[in-house]
Amino acid sequence: MSGMTPSAASLYDRVQRVIPAIEWPVFSDDIDAILRLKRERNAVILAHNYQTPEIFHCVADIVGDSLALARKAMEVEADVIVLAGVHFMAETAKLLNPSKTVLIPDMGAGCSLADSITPEDIRLLRQRYPGVPVVTYVNTSAAVKAESDICCTSGNAKAVVESLGVPRVLMLPDEYLAQNIAAQTEVEIIAWKGHCEVHERFTPEDIREMRAAHPGVTVLAHPECPPEVVAEADFAGSTAAMSDYVGREKPARVVLVTECSMSDNVAVDHPDVEFIRPCNLCPHMKLITLGNIRAALEHNRHAVTIDPAVAARARLAVERMLAV
Ligand code: 13P
Ligand code: SF4
Repeated sequence: MSGMTPSAASLYDRVQRVIPAIEWPVFSDDIDAILRLKRERNAVILAHNYQTPEIFHCVADIVGDSLALARKAMEVEADVIVLAGVHFMAETAKLLNPSKTVLIPDMGAGCSLADSITPEDIRLLRQRYPGVPVVTYVNTSAAVKAESDICCTSGNAKAVVESLGVPRVLMLPDEYLAQNIAAQTEVEIIAWKGHCEVHERFTPEDIREMRAAHPGVTVLAHPECPPEVVAEADFAGSTAAMSDYVGREKPARVVLVTECSMSDNVAVDHPDVEFIRPCNLCPHMKLITLGNIRAALEHNRHAVTIDPAVAARARLAVERMLAV
């Protein structure tokens, strides 16, 4: 461990089971610089559960699923928020705490779901389904949120849909999330054809093969997976719900049918649980690195801005969600 500064050295203990010692010197200099820059700039780092462990466990102040990050962003008192996640998460933080500087380390960190629908699509859907409320997944642009009645995340979608007290809703843009929620509620759900490029790749055969290869494994799936995959799982829930499940049930062996970094991040706190690791990488989440988090703080980039007229309407849809 030569070359490690004392503060990075103390952090390595936490992640030593998921980051090989040989890789640590690559990270330690950036970690120390980021810890210093956070103090100098009065900044906090919010990191999604799909961020790599050296970000998630070593520099983040607040971690969680999309819902937790939105809630916590609202409460931040520091001057600067660095969002280690994808662009829609940074936009949501800016909507909820507009006086803060919100930085996203790479502007290219998008999301296939956010790219699958435009504000114009929603306006056309409203013409086709007059009076039917529009529930929009947070994995969308602020401009799309602005056309919506209320937002949801994978952690609260069922509660949001049922809170409206109507027989029918449009739930956009994730077709699979909409189908998975439709299976749990009496409310009729009209879906869109958007998919998460990470979760759509899992198949029921993948799950059956994992069960055959690893007898007794508990299978947890994200509800962005196709319904046939969720049907093969023992439990489906948001990234936070999967993490909580592992902490609560302490399965001997588990597979998280989701993005790869989840298992690393959860494994850090559960040394007695065996994690089976088939997973898919999110290329957008993986654009965020210690190097560009450091550069974001050093050069104040890339500041998220939202047209004020759009922001006012988008904020309403997110705030309605948080009130559910
Ligand atoms: P969660 O809200 O469950 O964290 O999911 C966000 C996401 O992008 C999953 O692909
Ligand atoms: Fe978007 Fe899927 Fe990546 Fe989540 S995992 S950010 S839904 S592309």
